[in-house]
Amino acid sequence: MIDFRSDTVTRPTAEMREAMASAEVGDDVYGDDPTVNSLQAHAAERLGFEAALFTATGTQANLLAIMSHCGRGDEYLCGQSAHNYRYEGGGAAVLGSVQPQPIDNEPDGSIDLDKARAAIKANDFHFAITRLLSLENTIGGKVLSLDYQQQARAFCDDHGLQLHLDGARIFNASVKSGCDVTEITKYYDSVSVCLSKGLGAPVGSLLLGTSAFIDRATRLRKMVGGGMRQAGILAAAGQIALTQGPLRLHEDHENAAYLSAGLAAIPQLDINPASTQTNIVYARCRAGQAPQLRDYLLNQGILITAGDPVRFVTHQDVSRQDIDVLLECIRQFYRS
Ligand SMILES: Cc1ncc(COP(=O)(O)O)c(C=O)c1O
Repeated sequence: MIDFRSDTVTRPTAEMREAMASAEVGDDVYGDDPTVNSLQAHAAERLGFEAALFTATGTQANLLAIMSHCGRGDEYLCGQSAHNYRYEGGGAAVLGSVQPQPIDNEPDGSIDLDKARAAIKANDFHFAITRLLSLENTIGGKVLSLDYQQQARAFCDDHGLQLHLDGARIFNASVKSGCDVTEITKYYDSVSVCLSKGLGAPVGSLLLGTSAFIDRATRLRKMVGGGMRQAGILAAAGQIALTQGPLRLHEDHENAAYLSAGLAAIPQLDINPASTQTNIVYARCRAGQAPQLRDYLLNQGILITAGDPVRFVTHQDVSRQDIDVLLECIRQFYRS
């Protein structure tokens, strides 16, 4: 199968499997796993934070971040389409008693800071206490500008809020912005990073922040059942993902741009190739035949996400040739 559904579908490389097989391990709940400890130390340094925590998933890292910043009865401001609002089972509310205050995302993925200001609750016992602004970069494949993120930092400082970044794809953002990842992370109190998306690890994410923040998150990770024992087996692949993954993300972006241009040449599809910034491509079927297109492609051994719009994601396990096969199959679908 050629799988364009997500960058989460990548298989570990031979080098990762070898590192996993030979990883030195210990009981990480006792803090004894040298491979986890080394990944966390390396990640903290690489992303410019005091400390890092290895987590099972990006969802878990975001949950721990929100619960470490906010207590019961507090709230976090986030985008209406933020992953940690829409796609994480309402975990912050369910498990943390932290109320989300979603705000419509602007077309570029940002949250208008005037709208965020208007959403901050007054100091009045009728209201939840607004503690945190959570942004996402990249969001739907779009990159938040450095200038915007600097303004968001100043906004949070002015209003006594903490600032969290769901940086599941932060390295895609740094590659596209042409800057080191620390030029982004420096604006945030905490950042979550997925190792298991474009970076290619089979499992795992990281949460970064101050040592005190990571101590709180470590306690909460145990509480939600995320204390893993010989997790070095996973961290070994994560280490390779963190060091080598970012070096090849530009290929995914180039492939996504190539795919966008190819899709734009198919008259039955509606796509603005200029809107493809990183590794995620969206296109609308003008006649609304997305489910039929998905089924047709499935028969040809190609997987896509047939929402409205249809989503295609490039990653290390799809090549230029795979994209040519996809484009030809879509053309055939519309000819048939
Ligand atoms: C932006 C973003 N944040 C967080 C996550 C959650 O990651 P996980 O699937 O590892 O829980 C995802 C997963 O797709 C994501 O796209």
